[in-house]
Amino acid sequence: MSAIRAEGLVRRFGDVTAVDGVDLEVSEGEIYGFLGPNGAGKSTVVRMLCTLLLPTAGRARVGGLDVVDDAHEVRFSIGVALQDAALDDRMTGREILTTQGRLFGLHKGEIAQRIEELGPILEVDALDRLVGTYSGGMKRRLDLATSLIHNPSVLFLDEPTTGLDPPSRLRVWDEVRRLNRDFGMTVFLTTQYLEEADELAGRVGIINNGTLVAEGTPGELKRSIGTDVVLAELDRDHDRAVEILRSVEGVAQVDHFGDEVVIATSNGSATLSPVALALDRAGIVVTQLSLRTPTLDDVFLEVTGTRFEGGDQ
Ligand SMILES: Nc1ncnc2c1ncn2[C@@H]1O[C@H](COP(=O)(O)OP(=O)(O)OP(=O)(O)O)[C@@H](O)[C@H]1O
Ligand SMILES: [Mg+2]
Repeated sequence: MSAIRAEGLVRRFGDVTAVDGVDLEVSEGEIYGFLGPNGAGKSTVVRMLCTLLLPTAGRARVGGLDVVDDAHEVRFSIGVALQDAALDDRMTGREILTTQGRLFGLHKGEIAQRIEELGPILEVDALDRLVGTYSGGMKRRLDLATSLIHNPSVLFLDEPTTGLDPPSRLRVWDEVRRLNRDFGMTVFLTTQYLEEADELAGRVGIINNGTLVAEGTPGELKRSIGTDVVLAELDRDHDRAVEILRSVEGVAQVDHFGDEVVIATSNGSATLSPVALALDRAGIVVTQLSLRTPTLDDVFLEVTGTRFEGGDQ
């Protein structure tokens, strides 16, 4: 059984079609990365899957339950950390966790045990401090722990690391991996960070203007681009280098832009040394030679025709 299955999901807000017919399927135990720029429709999809927003059309099941007809049951089987988590600054971390545990019908002892188990996520020393004194990263992690209090089987994370510094981001990544590995938790994670999807997700769906434009493992998506790029920096002899490199085996295309000679090839690592050798034989001095394999950014460019404007450098 799939953990998540959406068919033809549509959501309109007045004239705006935020989500325009999304089909997707996530298997149990999978980490699915939902990648897209600002306004692509990520949060709207998440909110429909989490029963917080009614679809205009289409349907979705989470854990085999319909998100509209069985909304109540769905809520007990999922954990949700929304993008705009509103935590009450006047409560302590422990109070927030306890309140959430009670909402899910847990007893005092069960709540205490869960808080213990969630220790690796939380800053245990800060549990009895007011949330108002927490850093942004600590608040995020408290929100994540809160979404996990009832031990859900599917976890929805809407941009869990946006605005976090690199160490905090790494901590969240580690935690997501641990939950997935140790508890087989299915994770549906939205992100604007290509690197994050690449790092965490087994499969990635790219959404743009409310439509899923590509889907696959990060490797598959990158391979769909089909080309690696070898970059050679030269001080002189650019035209001659281009001429020579055209006849090197494995080279699909060569151009030069400024000081850089750009060599497209289907297999960058295999082409690197023939390129270096050919230039060396011709007495052309290379100041730098590097290999760039396709990134999810290249995939995004390929499928949408625009550069990704997310948070990556
Ligand atoms: N409640 C609403 N009323 C009107 N329009 C909305 C509403 N919620 C979302 N939208 C619109 O739907 C589109 C998709 O928004 P959504 O929040 O799903 O994008 P997103 O991919 O989560 O973006 P971000 O990365 O900025 O969080 C946007 O054009 C947004 O303005
Ligand atoms: Mg969003």
